[in-house]
Amino acid sequence: MSKPKIAIIIGSTRDSRFGEKPAKWIYEIAAARDDLDVEIVDLKDWPLPFFNEVASNAWAPTQNEVGQRWQKKVAEFDGYIFVTPEYNRSIPAALKNALDFSYPEWNKKAAAVVGYGSVGGARAVEHLRTIAIELQMAPTRSGVHIQGADFFAAWQQGKDLREFPHLEPNVKTMLDELAWWTAALKTAREADRAA
Ligand SMILES: Cc1cc2nc3c(=O)[nH]c(=O)nc-3n(C[C@H](O)[C@H](O)[C@H](O)COP(=O)(O)O)c2cc1C
Repeated sequence: MSKPKIAIIIGSTRDSRFGEKPAKWIYEIAAARDDLDVEIVDLKDWPLPFFNEVASNAWAPTQNEVGQRWQKKVAEFDGYIFVTPEYNRSIPAALKNALDFSYPEWNKKAAAVVGYGSVGGARAVEHLRTIAIELQMAPTRSGVHIQGADFFAAWQQGKDLREFPHLEPNVKTMLDELAWWTAALKTAREADRAA
């Protein structure tokens, strides 16, 4: 089986965002593994309008051209790592909009989350897992939380995330779970297609 393709989706689109830093950090760790083929997908490169279709593309084809291209991009991958901040205890609107813009393309695929914020994005991460269930994804049990003093040191004081080795065991566990679920679901989707 070819290596599963994983999108690392940067969930924050602000000009002055922190989000690129954890995205690049998790990319470097995931890219060093031999069981995942990773690519950064930056929502900033996808100028999706606020969702204004007659229905989810589960039920009606999307008319918006960027939305159509976005769905094709989502379809390229076997699994996803969402890198998300916490905005008022949930995920950013831009990320929710991008999630809403696609449906079958997310289905039966694995999803992991890297969260950051004062409490490691814990509430946003939990919310994202619930959204992922509705999109028929399999969210991993383990996530990565960049929180408290680590978050403020990396965000405000420019510390490199590689200076926090205590995060690494959790990163490994999350990526191991993602690799397992991604491979299992890829096999199952291929069996469905062959049937
Ligand atoms: C609209 C908004 C709401 C926020 N709400 C929370 C929050 O609920 N919990 C939290 O820990 N941080 C919160 N923050 C602070 C963010 O953790 C911090 O600004 C972080 O840098 C945002 O990620 P970004 O820079 O990648 O956009 C909020 C920031 C913004 C802009």
